[in-house]
Amino acid sequence: MTGHRLDDATFTAAVTSAIRAPSLHNSQPWRFRREGDTIEVWADRTRQLPTADPDGWAVRLACGAAILNLRLYFSAQGRPMSTALLPDPDTPDLLARLRPAPPESATPEDAVLATKIDLRRSNRAPFADAPVSLTEQSALAAAAHAESADLVFVTGMRAITDIADLVRAADAALGSKPGYTGELTSWTRPDSASSDGVPLAAAGPAPAPHELLTRRDFGGPDAPEHHRYEGHPLVAVLCSFGDAPRDQLIAGAALQRVLLTATQLSLVVSMLSQPIEVPSVREQLRVLAGGRVSIPQMVLRIGFGVPAPKTARRPAQAVIDDHAPH
Ligand SMILES: Cc1cc2nc3c(=O)[nH]c(=O)nc-3n(C[C@H](O)[C@H](O)[C@H](O)COP(=O)(O)O)c2cc1C
Repeated sequence: MTGHRLDDATFTAAVTSAIRAPSLHNSQPWRFRREGDTIEVWADRTRQLPTADPDGWAVRLACGAAILNLRLYFSAQGRPMSTALLPDPDTPDLLARLRPAPPESATPEDAVLATKIDLRRSNRAPFADAPVSLTEQSALAAAAHAESADLVFVTGMRAITDIADLVRAADAALGSKPGYTGELTSWTRPDSASSDGVPLAAAGPAPAPHELLTRRDFGGPDAPEHHRYEGHPLVAVLCSFGDAPRDQLIAGAALQRVLLTATQLSLVVSMLSQPIEVPSVREQLRVLAGGRVSIPQMVLRIGFGVPAPKTARRPAQAVIDDHAPH
């Protein structure tokens, strides 16, 4: 028997959880639709960033993360959903269809991770100079493996400096792309009243030239004199085993499971995706991350830090459709 009914209130609550997922510049490129007991997740192409994300990679990563949130929401209630990714080859923007599966208690991990969805944040501030233990690193890698992806830790200052060079090169290449700066500026928000985009409160200080890992410039204020980024950051590269749309959805779910696991461990994380957005740099990153078969999907800086502010989302009703979007 498969069988739980999906009422409107539960659907809305599940979507509210889904949209806490991260997305490039908080663009929230997703739509949700209920068809009986089935939930559809659609890409919202109107929210794709033409310059930073011409191919829709970031749309699929964000939606993959939102799909994991949906799965965790229902699993935690003992009513798991079975998920079909890209169920219709003729409708590539229909990214997933979730249907009720037989009731089953959540694993202890999933039950805990579901409670972290609302607490996860991107953190762009300096982290403490405290090491992340090998046990914690193993838990993060296990989270990636659980979603069929890999988390490669970059060890040694030499390799970290090499990655930092790639981040800097990619940031410069993006900066010289026509339209890039305007697009970035159009997604930054002076206050926290907007329901999308990156608010100044979460942007972190303006990037300074001497910083090791070049952050995206969301227009934050200059850093105070005492503000120093950690000298030995823990850097990891999330990799998938392919780069087709399906692999990118899987990477998004893996990213989210890693981020939620970090939240559970009281770790904070920054995402740096400039090297993924520049194909030639991404190829160099792939070689550096040591993968012959694995494809970089995100660079992460991980550590301990002061909690970052929560960013806003559009209300669930604004991302729910009654009819198929296309
Ligand atoms: C595909 C993708 C790429 C991202 N790239 C960056 C990045 O390069 N720099 C950054 O600071 N944040 C990056 N982020 C984080 C988003 O800006 C962040 O998720 C969004 O602003 C919402 O904030 P929250 O994560 O705190 O909920 C990225 C997120 C995703 C999903």
